[in-house]
Amino acid sequence: MPNAPYWVAGQAAHGGRELVVTGPHAGPAGTTTFATDADVERAVTTADAVRHEFAASSAAVRADALEHVSRRIAERAEEFARLITAEAGKPLKWARVEVARAVSTFRWGAEEARRWSGTLQRLDTDPAATGRMALLRRAPRGPVLGIAPFNFPLNLVAHKIAPAIAVGAPIVLKPAPKTPLSALLLGELLAETGLPEGSWSVLPVPDEVAGQLVQDPRLPVVSFTGSVPVGWSIRDAVPRKHVTLELGGNGAVVVGPDQGGEQSLAWAAQRIATFAMYQAGQSCVSVQRVYAHREVAEDLTARIVQEVEKLRTGDPADPATDVGPLIDEAAARRVESWVDEAVATGARVLTGGERTGCCYAPTVLTGVPADARVSCEEVFGPVVLVEPVDSTDQGFARVNESRFGLQAGVFTADLQVAFRAARVLEVGAVVIGDVPTYRADQMPYGGVKDSGEGREGVHAAMLDLTVDRVLVLTGIDV
Ligand code: SIN
Repeated sequence: MPNAPYWVAGQAAHGGRELVVTGPHAGPAGTTTFATDADVERAVTTADAVRHEFAASSAAVRADALEHVSRRIAERAEEFARLITAEAGKPLKWARVEVARAVSTFRWGAEEARRWSGTLQRLDTDPAATGRMALLRRAPRGPVLGIAPFNFPLNLVAHKIAPAIAVGAPIVLKPAPKTPLSALLLGELLAETGLPEGSWSVLPVPDEVAGQLVQDPRLPVVSFTGSVPVGWSIRDAVPRKHVTLELGGNGAVVVGPDQGGEQSLAWAAQRIATFAMYQAGQSCVSVQRVYAHREVAEDLTARIVQEVEKLRTGDPADPATDVGPLIDEAAARRVESWVDEAVATGARVLTGGERTGCCYAPTVLTGVPADARVSCEEVFGPVVLVEPVDSTDQGFARVNESRFGLQAGVFTADLQVAFRAARVLEVGAVVIGDVPTYRADQMPYGGVKDSGEGREGVHAAMLDLTVDRVLVLTGIDV
């Protein structure tokens, strides 16, 4: 994508300093420019100016626009997938999945926009209020600053933009500087919709400008997905704003003693291996820690190693590749140093444990001390540790030892264990019978503890971007 335009108040623009986008595998993926100060100002001014008009726009206008974008992503799916692969180094097979999810995220936006109606509440429960009732609706809190990460350059941008449009909240979207091109291509499709000027902008900006946007009172909502320290520093910097944070995790799985059958073990091992390593571990809900009941742990561990060794590594543009590079060499070096540190304090490498440039070999560890960074921090790399536990409750306790709480997976066929997991695990979602990496785009998604606050998932995000607006009617014969 040579010199891709950015999008200011819905219009294509070229501006300031060149931004060369270099993928971790094949090198140059394209270029764009950072938005000029004047264009940043125009995006914010127009977002502020259009906020009442956009909030009052018809559901048909918003839903049709979202549906159009969904359809157009589907029509240009392969182009999007190859662009994601080029800029992020994401294996093509997973980039295609991301694109299909973005189609669905925008489609859900359209459907939810049509359903977004409000409810009636009767007030005549109090004799003094006879003849009164209330219409409860949700009004946008105001224009949104969306900040997206590099690991899903299209679908996590979709999760910022689709709910904002669905509720009629203008949005200024800052894509990740490492992977802005997919968001800019999405801008092309948004520009086909005729949404009002100022209702959306997609602006690559350097970090210092992002800091100014965070502080800008004309953007009262900040929706951030990215690293833990940056997320919480935004929260602390603007305590009077509505800030939603989708941050990191160190996704855990508990495997119960009832999972010793051939089919159950094979399923658990295959799911754990795939989703510990997919996108080279660069998903906030990838599997990082596995706590397996002692009765199944040895067999399961051997199978996980076997499954991991079957994964194809290499060129992300090859549709057969399962695991590609990390986003850059610095990320791969960090993962390497964390694994080396764990090994120095007693961990054993069962497979992997080597780095070549931006790639880190899919790695399985055991015997990892609980305070090693590969256990207690977010690795964001293709590394999983497998440890035996004496009971599922002990497994749950290990899951909760973490300062993070995004999602957890529990392999069990015991309904009591499933409900106990939902009760005791301190996470945003518990997935029974699968890994924590499972995410349906219409499902509420977000964490507790250091993993963030607020929820995405199209409808949940629409609630998050809006606030109750009550209309009390008097003299109504109900
Ligand atoms: C994330 O990494 O937070 C997003 C995970 C997903 O959407 O699958």
